Amino acid sequence: MSPLTYASPFPDHFVFGVAAASAQIEGAAFTDGKGESIWDRFARVPGSVHNGDTLDTACDHYHRFDEDFALMASMGIRHYRLSIAWPRIFPQGRGEPNPAGLDFYRRLLASLHRHGITPWVTLFHWDLPQALEDEGGWTVRSTVEAFAHYADTVVKALSPWVRHWITLNEIRCFTWLAYGVGSKAPGRREPEQVVNQTIHHALLAHGLAVRAVRLHGSDDAQVGLTDNCDVAVPVTETPADIAAATAWFVQKNAHILGAIHGGGYSAEYLARVGDAAPHVEPGDFDLISLPTDHLGLNIYTATYVRAGADGRPEALSLPANYPRADSPWLNLVPQAIYWAPRMCRELYGHRSILITENGCGYDAEPVEGGEVIDLHRRDYVRNHLREVHRALADGVPIDGYFLWSFIDNFEWEDGYARRFGIVHCDFETQVRTPKLSARWYAEVIRHRRIL
Ligand code: NOJ
Repeated sequence: MSPLTYASPFPDHFVFGVAAASAQIEGAAFTDGKGESIWDRFARVPGSVHNGDTLDTACDHYHRFDEDFALMASMGIRHYRLSIAWPRIFPQGRGEPNPAGLDFYRRLLASLHRHGITPWVTLFHWDLPQALEDEGGWTVRSTVEAFAHYADTVVKALSPWVRHWITLNEIRCFTWLAYGVGSKAPGRREPEQVVNQTIHHALLAHGLAVRAVRLHGSDDAQVGLTDNCDVAVPVTETPADIAAATAWFVQKNAHILGAIHGGGYSAEYLARVGDAAPHVEPGDFDLISLPTDHLGLNIYTATYVRAGADGRPEALSLPANYPRADSPWLNLVPQAIYWAPRMCRELYGHRSILITENGCGYDAEPVEGGEVIDLHRRDYVRNHLREVHRALADGVPIDGYFLWSFIDNFEWEDGYARRFGIVHCDFETQVRTPKLSARWYAEVIRHRRIL
């Protein structure tokens, strides 16, 4: 591969896009027969979401998608990652599909088509129907069966419009953070074995979604998982630190990426979790390990790792004033977007990796003359794209980049205060205003190079 410099263009096939998710932007939480989601319920539990914000209206994208896609198209955006709300299709989680729910997504996809924007569709981005949570949610296997029916139904119904599918978004967040830590809906704090079981059920759901696309998708359909792997960045790019960072990565990702690609849980993982190991049924890993077409990675931050005195990985804590965005977990480590794809390529042999999310959240953003001057975001994206470029030059097969997010939206437990958009949303008036970062990103897309 010829060396790329930052000034040289991205390869012709490289996709630039933006991303969002149903629950975070659609609003219309109880419109046209949509059922309650676990986030609709959780947001009403006092103290769960910043400022008591709900998802009821969000960006009102449900009624404004046409206007939003016109804005995207005017910025030269040709690829959009969205998700389908399960409770719109099956208000009670299973049974007969709600025709109004399917019709909404057909209208939305037709609008994208009219605007020349290609959809990349995620089947599950955390909005589980509350009715299924009432039966145990991801802790019980019947939720996986309901998911299989949902995935089959959606892929059958929407495959005329959709070629690119993503099975699940960020397994850790709707299992461990939701059933272990309790910071995300449904806000439970279960023992370790139960949490590991939710992860196993999510892996199964991933496999069933892959099967749904193979069975019911178009002939040229492509499918893969979006994972938020724990990313290790070697402190120095020397063989010893790289080896240590890789060993740390393998250990931290053993239960998700390791299990999927290894055809089962590793002996090291099983020894580590002991009695808390998930229950696995015969044949589970035939589904979980079905081959996929790409791996989606959501990259935001990383842990610095080096080889300790004995050569073993040593994860470093960060100084209190290490630069970060306003999200407390979002330390600025742009090399994350170089090392995660590179390790995934080397460890799991992926030939196509997509950055399905990358972005940063800030609270108060400076406004001058009506424009949000979000140079911090422009810098964040620029620094990350430079590392994507470096990865491409080193032969890492990254095929696309989706900026999170198109528009400010409901940032889960942080509510509407934490803004990730390149388009500002006034949640009172629903007026959309592109920020400086949007204008900059539009130029990057137009020139296909980092500017
Ligand atoms: C990843 C999640 O997929 C998305 O829903 C969230 O808003 C962003 N991270 C920012 O936290």
